[in-house]
Amino acid sequence: DKPKSMIMVIFGASGDLTRRKLMPALYLLYKLKKLPVNFAVLGVARTQYTDEEYRERINLQLHRFLKAEDLNESLIDSFVNMLHYFSMDPSNPNDYLHLQPKLLELDTKIESGEHYLYYLATPPSLYGVIPQYLKNVGLNLDKGVRGKKRIVVEKPFGYNLDSALELNNVYYKDAFREDQIFRIDHYLGKETVQNIMALRFANSIFEPVWNRNYIDHIEITAVENMGVEQRGGYFDETGTLRDMVQNHLIQLVAITAMEPPMAFNEDSFRDEVAKVYQSLTPLTEKDMHEHIVRGQYVASENKKGYREEKDVDPLSRTETYVAMKLGISNWRWNSVPFYIRTGKQMPTKVSEIIVHFKPTPFLLFNCSDKQCPTANQLIIRILPDEGIVLKFTMKVPGAGFEVKQVAMDFSYKSLGSLPSEDAYVRLIEDCMIGDPTLFTRSDAVEASWRFFTPVLNFWETHPEIPVYGYPAGTWGPKESEAMMQEHGVQWINPC
Ligand code: BG6
Repeated sequence: DKPKSMIMVIFGASGDLTRRKLMPALYLLYKLKKLPVNFAVLGVARTQYTDEEYRERINLQLHRFLKAEDLNESLIDSFVNMLHYFSMDPSNPNDYLHLQPKLLELDTKIESGEHYLYYLATPPSLYGVIPQYLKNVGLNLDKGVRGKKRIVVEKPFGYNLDSALELNNVYYKDAFREDQIFRIDHYLGKETVQNIMALRFANSIFEPVWNRNYIDHIEITAVENMGVEQRGGYFDETGTLRDMVQNHLIQLVAITAMEPPMAFNEDSFRDEVAKVYQSLTPLTEKDMHEHIVRGQYVASENKKGYREEKDVDPLSRTETYVAMKLGISNWRWNSVPFYIRTGKQMPTKVSEIIVHFKPTPFLLFNCSDKQCPTANQLIIRILPDEGIVLKFTMKVPGAGFEVKQVAMDFSYKSLGSLPSEDAYVRLIEDCMIGDPTLFTRSDAVEASWRFFTPVLNFWETHPEIPVYGYPAGTWGPKESEAMMQEHGVQWINPC
């Protein structure tokens, strides 16, 4: 149930995530009357602001990042009045000695019963120390029944397997119980990602064919038409494999590939996700050479190259594009390739999953289309034009017997307007209620890193492995096409 009162402490309160995602999401929750009745935000960061200055700043940013139809001046004014600010250095343990009384003072005002939700929207290098320093001053301890403490951590959770293990087993285990930790992956907050589960588990026609006997391969694309914008510093340290693949893309693989959970609850759902990660076929050295392509965008027309971006090393080899083939070693998926790709500065912003079924064993008819695509495809569009498209083959009307592929198109909007809010609205609400179902559990995060860390190590120890340049605004290095040729298929670029 929604708590009656709560203080949300945002570390990284002057950063990009806070202004773009967290504040708009909190405002929308407020507008939907989903915030606790007694609610306050304590923004924490090093920059000096008074409460008033911080409120003004957020007010301006809400106007920038919210849709025009969501703006309501009097609501914005009352929303920003719930915001408070405390300047401190989150990497300095002594500053927490001042945070504690500051929180208590605010707590007395709004009577939250010391119910605090900590949100770590900081650089990942602080994910380990913050829980420890909170613990040092007792800010990790529940107080009675109402005064629960929860901590939300952004991705990437860890830098590789060792650091993720260290975060889980040392920094967090020591300060918070697993049920207090919410590792956020905003892809799971997307309606259309949740809808994949409805498609698979609320219909009976897909299950019999959802396996290696009928599916030839699966393609997952999540690309963007922007560069790194203001996040060059973070991104250059992180790269696409850690920023997108190890969490968002693999989450999409899990939802497409998972077994039906026993129930839709935190244990059953997350057990099945973890099982997919644990079943990923470990990559061999040959795979690293042949089945993974990384790229970096270079200047093209009026678009900057990655190395010219602010806060990026001019000689950087950080990847802004990754395409790879992976496999799942279990009964359902053995020998079915999953091709996944993601990149910045691509021609468009789109996320979709294409399930390619096997072609008919023999084709009786001529095709009207030279390329003759006759195998069925199920396209799950996550963004934009959210919906499902089923491609199948029909007779071209008239004399003779030619066939062509047609599309049956279901637009998600036809079910009613999609919630205009972003995934963060749903996920922050879940944290407030204390429902961890859509958050990554420690075993899953470790299994994912177990699979991807060898790739990072391989890149580090093989500087000769190229980071292919691709002109900004194009579909990435051509080498990612070559990767699929052995299977006789190619990427389908969404238009
Ligand atoms: C974030 C990444 O998690 O996801 C960003 O850090 C990326 O680099 C973003 O741009 C993409 O999310 P979405 O919801 O716009 O597909």
